[in-house]
Amino acid sequence: MNTPTSSPTMSRTRVLTGITTTGTPHLGNYVGAIRPTVQASLHSTTQGFYFLADYHALIKCDEPARIQRSTLEIAASWIAAGLDPERVMFYRQSDIPEIPELTWLLTCVTGKGLLNRAHAYKASVDKNTASGHDPDADVSAGLFMYPVLMGADILMFKAHKVPVGRDQIQHIEMARDMASSFNHLYGEHLVLPEAVIEESVALLPGLDGRKMSKSYDNTIPLFSSSAQLKKLISGIVTDSRAPGESKQTEGSALFQIYQAFASSEETTAFAKAYAEGIGWGDAKQLLFERIEREVAPMRAPYEELINNPAKVDALLLKGAAKARALATPFIQELRQAVGLRSLASTRSTQAVAQSERIAVPAFKQYREKDGQFYFKLVDPQGRVLLQSLGFTSPKDAGLAIGQLQQDGAKAMAELGSQVILGEGVSATELSDSLASLRTELAEKAKSKS
Ligand code: TRP
Repeated sequence: MNTPTSSPTMSRTRVLTGITTTGTPHLGNYVGAIRPTVQASLHSTTQGFYFLADYHALIKCDEPARIQRSTLEIAASWIAAGLDPERVMFYRQSDIPEIPELTWLLTCVTGKGLLNRAHAYKASVDKNTASGHDPDADVSAGLFMYPVLMGADILMFKAHKVPVGRDQIQHIEMARDMASSFNHLYGEHLVLPEAVIEESVALLPGLDGRKMSKSYDNTIPLFSSSAQLKKLISGIVTDSRAPGESKQTEGSALFQIYQAFASSEETTAFAKAYAEGIGWGDAKQLLFERIEREVAPMRAPYEELINNPAKVDALLLKGAAKARALATPFIQELRQAVGLRSLASTRSTQAVAQSERIAVPAFKQYREKDGQFYFKLVDPQGRVLLQSLGFTSPKDAGLAIGQLQQDGAKAMAELGSQVILGEGVSATELSDSLASLRTELAEKAKSKS
């Protein structure tokens, strides 16, 4: 069948992720975000966008020195772990002024109700309510707006895939919602992103067995000295089984951390040692050695960068310039789309408002090799909203089109299986498109008479 020719995408899959700059990177950040992005950046099929989310840091941290230090430490960790700033976009969020600008454009198409449902905001409100405080006590508007800022990070660079932890999935879904609302109003400008959850490194447990996280104070810093690393590992919780007693791998934080660093052969051998009753002291020594093997070679490059913050600044600014080469023209396109544009712009504002705001679709009729007559409804970006099956005569096809133009979505029921919705098109979207088409036809008729 005559399917719309979607231009073959020669461009690479864009993968984007950020780390909030509020603390010292720990092993959880390393296995969950730093290491996988470094590995992904080596594939030539992807284009990576990796950044330091320092605007996000302001939401939960009011210590300027800490944000500054954390930015340096995370940037240095990423590079020491092998990220090549030449191959990817590596930048600091606050060096891209287009991001807060896009945040505002998205703010205006995001329902307040959507943000009310964000987990992080809701958790704060619920906590206040449970303890009898004002629901909004200590809740900043920044916390409330967090998902919109994150949406801007993602949509600014038309990211396809966003690797994140489970707790962030909702934010990616919200970014999709924002992109759809924007596109619906102003035309197809934004790309709908998808969350990518790395199952194998789902969540690294911390010293106490809960998720490794700053907020639980149970982390192992990625770049502690070898002696410190050893000391911290000796503090990982275990049960009280004595050496010689067989141990359980399930629920063992020690085992899970080991697994995150080891090959599958090494993990199998470690599980066998558990079964054979390895003592906890020996197991901790093996874990220490395994982590040390991976981290030790990164210590010198890390120290080098930490001691040369100006060098890191320069790298990040260079990255920002590269990123802005994309962001600046794109925000111009979006400003144009929403009406923040030159007053001398040649098209009459009325006409532009009609044709762009509502983005009127059009019917296209054609004949197929099977001799039958078809039509489809296509939006201004070429997306198929509705597709007919074959009609025996062009007149029948024309009548069906007339019915759709006149009765809108109601005609869908009458036409039954003769027409099918385009891929990913909702009934509401179709009905809105038909309505805008009807309005336009009416306007045209009026201006002619
Ligand atoms: N909110 C993310 C976190 O705390 C960090 C982040 C900010 C991010 N902007 C992003 C992650 C955009 C992915 C994409 O983990």
